Amino acid sequence: MTWPNLPRLRSFVVDFAALLDAAEDDEPRILGEGGDLLARLVAQDDWLPISYATPSPTRYRQYLLHCDSLQRFSVVSFVWGPGQATPVHDHTVWGLVGVLRGAELSQGYARQGGRLVPAGPVRRLEPGRIEAVSPRVGDIHRVANAFDDRTSISIHVYGANIGAVRRATYDGAGRPQPFVSGYSNATLPNLWDASQEQSA
Ligand code: FE2
Repeated sequence: MTWPNLPRLRSFVVDFAALLDAAEDDEPRILGEGGDLLARLVAQDDWLPISYATPSPTRYRQYLLHCDSLQRFSVVSFVWGPGQATPVHDHTVWGLVGVLRGAELSQGYARQGGRLVPAGPVRRLEPGRIEAVSPRVGDIHRVANAFDDRTSISIHVYGANIGAVRRATYDGAGRPQPFVSGYSNATLPNLWDASQEQSA
């Protein structure tokens, strides 16, 4: 099935790859200019195919939408059922989060002595809002759907094939537990059928 506005996502991944070509390892530039690209993508909620926007009753979903051929970045839709939340976790690479639908609550954590303690207030992310994570700017957080009666969706971009990255969740005492998240989907949306534009 074709999805009429999916070219928005193709333009995004093309622009993001061009940004990485230009910025190389300049993380502040990637987070700044990449955040602007992501803000434009999530400003319109008319392009995400329903297969990648469907929640599970048991656990939040992480649908891979695109992975760069050199695994320099990946794009994921996080789909939160009512009340669903992540454990406290890290990323180990840079990441950008943009809310597409609903709202999320994000609580950062920081090391204090041997423990992990909440750092700053819980932030409420509304549609269009962009948040960044990385070992440089703060990498450990817990994220939850702000609603207990509806689905929320956010679009994430990470500086790796995030589903294959060895990272950690943290228990209440701040002890790391190794995890590799994987993805919820076995097939990807087809971004590359440009026949409609060619025949227009
Ligand atoms: Fe996260």
